Amino acid sequence: MLHVNENYSRIKPTYLFAEIAHRVAAHQQAHPDAKVIRLGIGDVTEPLAPSVIAALHKAVDDEADRSAFHGYGPEQGYAFLRERIAEVDFRARGLEVSADEILVSDGAKCDCGNIQELFAGDVRIAVGDPVYPVYVDTNVMAGRHDIQLLPCTAANGFVPGPEGCTADIVYLCYPNNPTGATATKAQLQAWVDWANDRKALILFDAAYEAFIRDPTIPHSIYECAGARTCAIEIRSFSKTAGFTGIRLGYTVVPDGLVAYAADGSAVPLRPMWTRRQTTKFNGASYLTQRGAEAVYTPEGQRETRATIDFYLGNAKLVREALAAAGYAVTGGTDSPYVWVDVKGDSWAFFDRLLAEANVVTTPGAGFGREGEGYIRISAFNSRENVLEAIERMKKVL
Ligand code: MLT
Repeated sequence: MLHVNENYSRIKPTYLFAEIAHRVAAHQQAHPDAKVIRLGIGDVTEPLAPSVIAALHKAVDDEADRSAFHGYGPEQGYAFLRERIAEVDFRARGLEVSADEILVSDGAKCDCGNIQELFAGDVRIAVGDPVYPVYVDTNVMAGRHDIQLLPCTAANGFVPGPEGCTADIVYLCYPNNPTGATATKAQLQAWVDWANDRKALILFDAAYEAFIRDPTIPHSIYECAGARTCAIEIRSFSKTAGFTGIRLGYTVVPDGLVAYAADGSAVPLRPMWTRRQTTKFNGASYLTQRGAEAVYTPEGQRETRATIDFYLGNAKLVREALAAAGYAVTGGTDSPYVWVDVKGDSWAFFDRLLAEANVVTTPGAGFGREGEGYIRISAFNSRENVLEAIERMKKVL
């Protein structure tokens, strides 16, 4: 008899954003004339930067030309892109990360979900609560149930410390999804020191680093002393350059970063991750990597920064409107997410905003127990829609 992986019965049958999509579709079916405004899933709405578009067109032309044509590329990503990432995202900030340490992929979500394959089935995991569901669900699917939840609450500024954390691997995401909170260098340093002391690992998700405007907030875990011996960093072009539909991300696994075999011997992680990727992944497409390369040109940097500034402008409007309406809000300054304390059932609040304002948000409970009582509002939409959503929410609230 064929047996299923019963670990799947330990996760919710529907992924959070799929569940929200079902509710929105049902609402739209019942109210076909309603103009629904989506401030739910963090999906970008602005067109790609002109320099990225030009690079994509050029890459398409390459594929039409026998002498410039590209078939399979290197599974780790093309050197032309990895060099630019190392230079602009790290060396220009004084951080020691080389092109060899960067593995390009088709998105940060895949890397966040796949990286756990490198570790033993019985490693203990810690995640923030609330949390991006991918970290938890992928570990549960793999049979890990020893998952420590680190409460992220208003009391700790939504940044848990390492005190009392007994895990082997901790997932940290700052600027945070879903709370929009940021971590200071001292807070991240405490985690790095904890990880080095315990021979533990930090999986640092920096998908939202491009939204940081406060110069004191770290963009990378490698800004902390000692992080190269205890941290993997995962980055995304989705929010940085509007690549949610294009798909591209990368993971940094530093030279010399190790985990341990049962006999106590050190096993370098980059060869393992490379082995995993070369076996299960055939590389991100040439086109998308050429598009991403353009993000690192001076124009690309200017254009993508301007788009993020635009979303941050939306976030500021949402944040200020909700605060003026009497709600405690977090995030929305160095993050596209505004986390709103609604002092009540978050799915009920979500349903009410959908039914009465035709505005889609994300209920905090979908991100974990400590998310109950909050909703997340995303700043990814046109200015016109954000302003209209604010007016409609004000009326309802
Ligand atoms: C979110 O809304 O939390 C994100 O868009 C999900 C993702 O990046 O996969």
